[in-house]
Amino acid sequence: MFELKPPHHGSKQEHYDDLLSQMRGLLDGEHDLIANAANFSALVYHSLPELNWAGFYLYDGSELVVGPFQGKPACIRIALGRGVCGTAAQTREVQLVRDVAAFEDHIACDAASQSEIVVPLIKADGSLLGVWDVDSPLTERFDEDDRAGMQALCAAFMETVRN
Ligand code: SME
Repeated sequence: MFELKPPHHGSKQEHYDDLLSQMRGLLDGEHDLIANAANFSALVYHSLPELNWAGFYLYDGSELVVGPFQGKPACIRIALGRGVCGTAAQTREVQLVRDVAAFEDHIACDAASQSEIVVPLIKADGSLLGVWDVDSPLTERFDEDDRAGMQALCAAFMETVRN
């Protein structure tokens, strides 16, 4: 059985380093997309403070469709270019939104969300798998350490994805 480690009391970077090694252990040897995406969501959601949603939107060839996540039920489909998730998918750039009220096209699935970070997930062949989306009930919850940490976690996840 996988044991969640107690919260780290070092720096945020150290916390992410620790989380990354736990994540690698959790995903090790498994290549099932849904299984790994589900466990990835659960580990992040239960390891980082002040989150109200953490999960995947997967690209079905025409739009983003909600995938494995932790948190309240969410919007099911998001068009490319719409909202923070669709913007990350279309631009293929991480979207770090410190205050969703300032992001004109933000899609409020959960009214509690005040800030979010969305990482685009690109397969080895260059195609779009989807996005990884994490929301917080606090404004300014995410910073550059979170950007680097989430990107490293997503890179480890993408190493398990087969084309
Ligand atoms: N806020 C996102 C929508 C997804 S939910 O937050 C789970 C967006 O603007 O794309």
